[in-house]
Amino acid sequence: MNRQERRRHEKRARRAGRNPRNVANSPAVAARHFEKGELAEAAEIVRRVVRATPKHFDALQFHGVMAARRGHADDAVDAFRAALAVRPQDAGARYNLANALGAAGQPDAAEQSYLGALEITPNDADIHINLGAVQRELGHFNDAIASFRRAIALNPKLVWAHNNLGLALQESDALDEAVGCFERAIALAPKSAEFRVNLARALMRRDRLEDAIAAYRQAMEYAPGDARIRTGLGRALRDNNDLVGAIAAFEGAIRDDPRHAPAHYSLGSALSAYGKFAEAADAFQAAATHDPDDARACNNLGVALLDLGRDDEAEAAFRQAIDINPKHAPAHYNLHAALFRDDDLGPAIDTLKCAVAADPDHDRAWFFLAMCQEQQGDRDAAAASFEKVPLDDNGYNYWLDSWDYAYRNMGPATRVFGSTARILAHAQAAASIDGLTLEFGVRFGTSIRQIASRTDGIVHGFDSFQGLPESWHENPTGDYTTHGEMPAVPGNVELHVGLFDDTLPPFVAAHDGPIRFMNVDCDIHSATKTILDRLHTRIIPGTVILFDEYICNPYWREDEYKAFQEAVATHGWRYEYLAFCPFTRQTTIRILP
Ligand SMILES: C[S@@+](CC[C@H](N)C(=O)[O-])C[C@H]1O[C@@H](n2cnc3c(N)ncnc32)[C@H](O)[C@@H]1O
Repeated sequence: MNRQERRRHEKRARRAGRNPRNVANSPAVAARHFEKGELAEAAEIVRRVVRATPKHFDALQFHGVMAARRGHADDAVDAFRAALAVRPQDAGARYNLANALGAAGQPDAAEQSYLGALEITPNDADIHINLGAVQRELGHFNDAIASFRRAIALNPKLVWAHNNLGLALQESDALDEAVGCFERAIALAPKSAEFRVNLARALMRRDRLEDAIAAYRQAMEYAPGDARIRTGLGRALRDNNDLVGAIAAFEGAIRDDPRHAPAHYSLGSALSAYGKFAEAADAFQAAATHDPDDARACNNLGVALLDLGRDDEAEAAFRQAIDINPKHAPAHYNLHAALFRDDDLGPAIDTLKCAVAADPDHDRAWFFLAMCQEQQGDRDAAAASFEKVPLDDNGYNYWLDSWDYAYRNMGPATRVFGSTARILAHAQAAASIDGLTLEFGVRFGTSIRQIASRTDGIVHGFDSFQGLPESWHENPTGDYTTHGEMPAVPGNVELHVGLFDDTLPPFVAAHDGPIRFMNVDCDIHSATKTILDRLHTRIIPGTVILFDEYICNPYWREDEYKAFQEAVATHGWRYEYLAFCPFTRQTTIRILP
């Protein structure tokens, strides 16, 4: 073999990945190990080759590929850099280096390396796709969109390019175009659940909820048992006002994967919205168990427990949320409700200060801070905090208006409370005449169970269980329906099912005596008026009425407040305000002689 022949032979051997200097055949042996999945053996051989011939291009590439496969991204980067030092113009090595840099968490360097590869092979669609992916990661959405479009122009069948273009367009709020991209990806790969989920998400953001629901259902056909997809379906159903369907979907997701925390969390939110607070609390508790870092789940658990009148447990849940995330403004804000005492305002004020420090735009925290400071007599601090509560275009804020009304109408004995449990207990304790105990608006029985637990005799609960008989501002007719489900109530509760107009006349005919205590929780003016009109002869001095939506909602002057004030004018009642609970919007009234 003359010198020229020997050099030709060595070159061929190098190309074939063989070692020209008798570490010979090792890369080929390594390749066989690699194909059999024996990565450690393959890596060891290649390491030996690289040690013996540090500029062996193929061995360095192979070393990099294996390091990347084994998850050693930094080693892979070193190996590809060394390979590029041998052959700076090798597009494959640049591409490999870019991929490794991306995996090593260096997207900027990865982008440069892809661009370098494209200078050598500008028409490589794979490089354009991967370049687009790091550009997305860097938040350079316009560049990413251009890269994906270029990949598609080079190869319109690149299904991932369509999908990724859809994602980048969605991130740029070009939702209709994104929908089109996902549809094209699905046309190319009809069995991909992932593309259908992406389509569903884009459709949801476009408010095309029915289409989103259909897309989720199709995705489920191709990935049955995937809890994430069923959770997505539940969210679409919830947004489409199908709470019952949403709850069933979340429960299904939990059956698919009992540890899927987002399904538990979403189930909790849906159950809360549906009025099933005990079940909601269980769901949030499960979400917090499966994702112990989820401060939101603990916070929402606390809110459900407050609704259930379990204030001490609620306090513990809010504190847990704050332990997880000391800057969780909603948890500080809600904690104040559990801590609120009108004879010791310090703890509530402290936690409200934490809430506004964590979120200076938390309007309600500013409002309640101002309210507490005013009650404490700290006028300057209260004035400064009230200033932070924004007014609408007409210079109005219903929280400020309600509090202004409540504060001006307080007598020496009027109390202020922070939670339903406390105002309810106070109202029932203040009811001292003998007579009937009634609740209007029972739904799933949350409040009537609390009332019954403090009542010796019968508690009469009135509800159609069909929800609102007419729309209530933004709430549509039928809102709060139980879909015919009857609540579980203790033995001393008697339910009177139907519209108040229909159930009250026979009730009044069958039951003598005045009303000792009644909880009015039916929201709308007409229903409240019906109650007060039909029962006015039974409302006597000493009767205590707890209204659930008397103050602090946007239309408070048009609903329960208005119906009561009309009844006062009609029947000439005198009354006193026993308590306000701005946080829950409740107000207790006692009729005076
Ligand atoms: C907000 S929910 C009651 C919540 C309940 N107190 C709780 O603890 O969850 C209002 C209820 O009032 C009922 N309701 C409203 N107007 C009514 C009417 N005119 N006759 C009968 N029920 C009515 C609805 O069916 C609904 O269940």
